Amino acid sequence: PEIRREDYRPFPWLVPETRLEFELGLESTRVRSKLTVARNAKADHSPTIRLNGDGIEATSVMVDGEPAQAFTMDGSDLILTLPGEAHEIAIETEIDPSANSQLMGLFASNGMLCTQCESEGFRRITFFPDRPDVLSVFTVRLSGAKAQFPILMCNGNRVDEGEDGDDHWAEWHDPWPKPSYLFALVAGDLLARTDSFTTMNGREVELNVWVREGDLDRTEHAMESLKRSMKWDEETFGREYDLDLFNIVAVSDFNMGAMENKGLNVFNTKYVLADPETATDGDFDAVEGVIGHEYFHNWSGNRITCRDWFQLSLKEGFTVLRDQLFSQDMHSEPVKRIEDVRVLRGVQFPEDSGPLAHPIRPDSYREISNFYTSTVYNKGAEVIRMMRTMAGEEAFRKGTDTYFDRHDGEAATCEDFITSIEDGAGLDLKQFRLWYSQAGTPKVTADLSHDNGEAVLRLGQQVPSTPGQPNKKPMPIPLKIALFDRETGKNSGEQLLILDSDTAEHRFAGFDKKPVLSINRGFSAPVTIQRDIDRDELLFLAAKDDDPFARYEAMQDLITGHLVASASGDLGDDERVSARADIATALSAVIADGSLEDLMRGELLLMPSQSYIGEQLELADPGRIHAERESLKAAIGTSLHDELVQLHSRVSDVPFSMDAQAKGARKVKTVALTYLAAASPELAETMAAAQYDAADNMTDRQGALMVLTGLEGVERTNKLLDFYNRYEGNALVIDKWFALQASSLHPNVVEHVKALADHPDFTLRNPNRVRSLYMAFAANPHGFHIETGEGYRMIGDLILELDPINSQTAARFVPPLGRWRRIEAGRAAMMRDQLDRIAAFDKLSRDTYEQVSRSIG
Ligand code: ARG
Ligand code: ZN
Repeated sequence: PEIRREDYRPFPWLVPETRLEFELGLESTRVRSKLTVARNAKADHSPTIRLNGDGIEATSVMVDGEPAQAFTMDGSDLILTLPGEAHEIAIETEIDPSANSQLMGLFASNGMLCTQCESEGFRRITFFPDRPDVLSVFTVRLSGAKAQFPILMCNGNRVDEGEDGDDHWAEWHDPWPKPSYLFALVAGDLLARTDSFTTMNGREVELNVWVREGDLDRTEHAMESLKRSMKWDEETFGREYDLDLFNIVAVSDFNMGAMENKGLNVFNTKYVLADPETATDGDFDAVEGVIGHEYFHNWSGNRITCRDWFQLSLKEGFTVLRDQLFSQDMHSEPVKRIEDVRVLRGVQFPEDSGPLAHPIRPDSYREISNFYTSTVYNKGAEVIRMMRTMAGEEAFRKGTDTYFDRHDGEAATCEDFITSIEDGAGLDLKQFRLWYSQAGTPKVTADLSHDNGEAVLRLGQQVPSTPGQPNKKPMPIPLKIALFDRETGKNSGEQLLILDSDTAEHRFAGFDKKPVLSINRGFSAPVTIQRDIDRDELLFLAAKDDDPFARYEAMQDLITGHLVASASGDLGDDERVSARADIATALSAVIADGSLEDLMRGELLLMPSQSYIGEQLELADPGRIHAERESLKAAIGTSLHDELVQLHSRVSDVPFSMDAQAKGARKVKTVALTYLAAASPELAETMAAAQYDAADNMTDRQGALMVLTGLEGVERTNKLLDFYNRYEGNALVIDKWFALQASSLHPNVVEHVKALADHPDFTLRNPNRVRSLYMAFAANPHGFHIETGEGYRMIGDLILELDPINSQTAARFVPPLGRWRRIEAGRAAMMRDQLDRIAAFDKLSRDTYEQVSRSIG
């Protein structure tokens, strides 16, 4: 059944207090709950209370101390009749965490117990109004075997503890009312890195990062990131931490990145553990970003939570924006912006133009887990970033202050957020609200002409139709622009234009000839731009634009324009030669530009992804795009051979450190190799093998191995073996070993992936391992779109096999197949066949069923 946003009704009962007692065991955990409930004066009267359950049975149900006479089951929910104004409900359940392969609710991971409750996992532990608008103060008693669970943790503060023979117990109290999805417990044999932070008002907070023995020396970066996050949120948003204790726990079996449970964040090990030997620079940045993200949720998510799950972007979009701004402030702002836009375009744009397109505030769903999407997270962040751009930083801060003041302690809506920003920042967002309700990436056209001493800019917008939304209205689109004089290289100053109608015309006086248009600077709006611009002008912007993002964009446009033309087949030989020459000229200038930092140089040298190029075409032929893209890489590797070799050798001399200069050196080092590999495989093999051997850090080592996995020489085998032997037993690094092979350019990648699925280290029970092999493969166009259809069949098989084990993870593999409408007919039919085959399976989870049926359309 579909759940609809418009059907929201407040819950008829309040649950001011919840007491839970857990008798912990890996195979059997007994849960006793005691809920005080009272009628909610702000809701309609109801003679009953609905307590959600999922796969659990009550061994005892009591109301006000007596066995409950009148309770019924509605599906898996428990319905109790309650005659009075206030009651006490006591329920017992018994669960088997070791059998919980879905990793939702209470589950076992490497001998420890932990929970994941967002969105609807709490109902797999005990019967409860498992919805985010029911806030309760939790007191929890945990007991279990001392030897097996030396550490017992829950939300809030530990208020009491004791021993009882071989068992021990601890009682935890969280003073802040919270919905059940923020509940967490952890029990196991863990060690902590401990530190402290003093808040702006002098609160002394104990900080712990808990890991398994042996992982402690990889937690320093996580701890430093946490302290930086706490400081940054005070300085930037005025937000202070509100408990005396903050715990982070790393677990290796986890469906997603991390979870912001009050005072007890649970993390995928991938976003906690990092040292230079085993983690890349990208991994370091991801740890910092996710630590920040979960910490920032304490205000944007926990102190103010969501009224219902349709409001998910209220906490996720805003918190992603907050973590992006944090990372921008810690490192290079333009480089971070480019990385974030790359994710948006690589993942969210395809989602927004496909069968699963939905607004950042969806209108309906069957399974909410399917809506933890790039649209809700990343486009959600872009939408709030546009408000910030239109308001300016200072006014935006007044808006967020208003939001935090007004709604602290509440379960709020996106509408509450928008109204707070309107009032606090002094913006009128009436029309802007369309960004919350309309799906689809707006297409903006920009034409610049010259007329009588004036530059004339004609803008147009069109929001494409998406499933269930055939007709769209124009939205306010904030576009930062600048006009450049080609001769002087100077611009007229940046301006912010708001395009809020279908078409608009802007005239700029004082131009005696046509200037060059730089538009959507800093990626001020999440739209696609079709600008009428020639290659010379793009070359000019790629070399001279003073906005780093716009410069990157010109470079990308230059390459994308060429690849789109060549992959659609309408390009003569002369055209190809001259376009390639222009691209090589631009790249060569980037290599030579002494004013650029290497981190930025690395961005400017990167080719647009295959999926981004495919996205520009109505119907993409993945084989064709891949061939054209590889052949362009080879052409560049040939014509810039000497420059690339020199670049590689220059940066190879930079000693290891974590500063921006050394990180930049490592970035361009591997980029240079990827071009050379396409042009001169033997030379690249030698260089990559040498880089691998000389590496004193994972970034260089992984980069070299990445290049080698795509080549056919003997060093591929040598270094893969060396890598495996070197890191055997380190799960996160072995994940890289799987992922590198699954994403490789090697001609036999399909066979490699099949063989890896039978490797003794492969298992469907660990989501990181599944993703490292199969997500990497599904994102590798050269493998996934192999013309035999073998890639589609492998992902189809995986979905069917994984669905009964871990449906949330299985459903995440449907979107790659769901792209079929935008792929050439032969492949499209084979992709569609796989969707039909999955749909015909009669025991699909709700997660996979929803994704498959929407993808078939
Ligand atoms: N709230 C978590 C975060 O973004 C993610 C929870 C994901 N839950 C899910 N059912 N997929 O920080
Ligand atoms: Zn989040």
